[in-house]
Amino acid sequence: MRLSLRFLIPLLLALGAFAYLAVPLADTLMQRWFVRDLDMRSSLIAATVQEPLSNLIVAGSTPAIVTFFNRMLRDDRLYAVAVCIDTKGTPVATANFPREVDCSKLGAYANEGENVLRSGKGPLHVAVRDVDPDVTPDARLILVHDMSFVERRSEETRRYLFYFFVALGACIALITVVIAQLSWRGWVEGLRALLHGEGILRPAARSTAPELRPIARDLRELIRDLERQYRPLDGSQRIWDQEALRATLRSELHGNDVIVVSNREPYIHVRTPEGIRMQRPASGLVTALEPVMRACSGTWIAHGSGSADRDTVDRNDRVAVPPDHPLYQIRRIWLTKEEEDGYYAGFANEGLWPLCHIAHVRPTFRSSDFEYYRSVNERFAEAVIAESKTKDPIVLVQDYHFALLPRMIRDRLPDATIITFWHIPWPNPEAFAICPWRSELLDGLLGSSILGFHTQFHCNNFVDTVDRLLEARVDRESFTVSFRSQLTTVHRYPISIEWPPAALAIVKSVPEARKAVRERLGLPQDHRLGVGIDRLDYTKGIIERFNAVGRLMELQPEWVGRFSFVQIAAPSRSSIGEYRDYGARVRTLAAEINARHPKAQHPPIILLSEHHETESVYEHHRAADLCFVSSLHDGMNLVAKEFVAARDDEQGVLILSRFTGASRELPEALVVNPYDADQCAAALHLALTMPPEQQRDRMRFMRGVVREFNVYRWAGRMLVDAAVMRQRGRFQPAEAAAHPL
Ligand code: F6P
Repeated sequence: MRLSLRFLIPLLLALGAFAYLAVPLADTLMQRWFVRDLDMRSSLIAATVQEPLSNLIVAGSTPAIVTFFNRMLRDDRLYAVAVCIDTKGTPVATANFPREVDCSKLGAYANEGENVLRSGKGPLHVAVRDVDPDVTPDARLILVHDMSFVERRSEETRRYLFYFFVALGACIALITVVIAQLSWRGWVEGLRALLHGEGILRPAARSTAPELRPIARDLRELIRDLERQYRPLDGSQRIWDQEALRATLRSELHGNDVIVVSNREPYIHVRTPEGIRMQRPASGLVTALEPVMRACSGTWIAHGSGSADRDTVDRNDRVAVPPDHPLYQIRRIWLTKEEEDGYYAGFANEGLWPLCHIAHVRPTFRSSDFEYYRSVNERFAEAVIAESKTKDPIVLVQDYHFALLPRMIRDRLPDATIITFWHIPWPNPEAFAICPWRSELLDGLLGSSILGFHTQFHCNNFVDTVDRLLEARVDRESFTVSFRSQLTTVHRYPISIEWPPAALAIVKSVPEARKAVRERLGLPQDHRLGVGIDRLDYTKGIIERFNAVGRLMELQPEWVGRFSFVQIAAPSRSSIGEYRDYGARVRTLAAEINARHPKAQHPPIILLSEHHETESVYEHHRAADLCFVSSLHDGMNLVAKEFVAARDDEQGVLILSRFTGASRELPEALVVNPYDADQCAAALHLALTMPPEQQRDRMRFMRGVVREFNVYRWAGRMLVDAAVMRQRGRFQPAEAAAHPL
């Protein structure tokens, strides 16, 4: 109602102003019309009486003239009549002829429109006409009409006009109120619906508010534009930390179920002679996701692989973690030895891992492994369904262990938002096509709402692969794939680490760490130290790294005995022959290189083939002069980012393989080709001789990047995109909902 008044009051004011101007105007116009009427009437009467009157004048009979005039006065309108025989005398007139009109001043009434006399008897119209110019050339007939009727009519007209405008105002007001109420309600509902992502854009509402359709379309476009604009802003201006991620979840995905699925669990319970111990696995995936889960709460479904895992779960196979301050649940899935061998060691790590990493190890595909892979994916799908509290949870599927899982979840929970992240590279279509189950894998992945990779290059490879191998519609502008009536958005989300790393709160200071590590390794305090921290995996280029160290000793012998490279190699996938062989080769090569310098007081390579907990990893990063990451192919490599994060003293040099995703984000590192031993040796020398100022400059840049592009941003961007997709899904058909993000 208030809204209608806002329309109405100005409208009525405008109408009032219009009436205020229009009524006097109409009055004046009417007066003019009446005067003109009386002029014409007077001319008519003059013409009619011309002949008898001129005869009476010529006859010189004044009483006869007056009698004649009195007869004329039977006409109601005619008020008085007179004749001036000449211009000097008094007029021969009827009794009520106004005395102000004098025969000598008749010129004052000559002009039409100026002949209104304001007398005490009211307004009078005075018309002066010739009688008969031929017979009585000086005689003038004066006809006086009563104009009070004009005043009366004018009064009436004003009254009618007033009533008219009042009635008009009332009608307009009524119509305005009705229309305003109807259309405003429609608009408000439409807009409200738009803002909530529903209502007018729904097909049902389309039929009720067709007039809003074009506006809805425009608004939709506008929203998209704003979103597009928002994305880069989000990247450059929003500071992502644990609290920001929590706030995003609260605001964008309030009350939504978040379920993470990965093969590796974030906390492993192992049985030791001293009792049950908790271990954190050496896994980039876990390093990245664990802080995210602490922020999100929710449930993390993973393979319970620890020897004491079963002893630490409740009757629903759940355990709350972190142990000292529980923030989320791990739901453990138990696998038989055969399942683990077939799904994990076999299909995932002997098949997909070498298939996706170009590290010159041939993939091995066995149909029995694939069957286990399929059935274990099914087991995890069942767990997702069981853990979902709603029919539309947000499920974060992690990595190459679960290529079939997104489709399995989609089939059971069509409204779920499934974000799949592929942590390893995606090869080109030719390389991928050698997999006998290529179509099944692609189909499985295309059950996802969003499919993420670390780099645009991997996104391109995936889309190319789909284009080549599936009957799917690929849109390269929006980077979406439409398959089985569903859209998957393929997007780049470079993974990272938490900032600031929690480990920094407990790890020793840089001088203390330098001292402690050197003491532990039996090295002098001024001994130069390089560090490499990896799983013992052939993709990590550990052999190439050792060869580079060996080459450095050859090319720059001054470093022999003064520089050592510490390699922490966490045993990994040791049930797989290729890994056992690789471990053996690494150990042999380290020994060989050290043996080349028998006289060196301290060996060029110190190999620590054991798992190190996070605190120890950070301690080594802080103690080192350089960190060497020489992966032959790596989706991202978080060790590089951890090294940068560990160096709050802004010292230390990062040597980084150009075949890692991280090298795209950290070009201030010394970027090398790990296959080129000479180049790597030169980089090692350069790092060892780099002035502190240059180290600071490079490190400062890299720390800025890792700080800003941290893991909360990685997760936050995916979850924000998921939220946008869910919003759209409320008012668009499934296909359109996954519009380019
Ligand atoms: O890079 C893929 C990945 O899943 C990483 O997240 C992690 O570093 C590694 O593989 C873990 O391997 P696994 O779980 O087989 O020990």
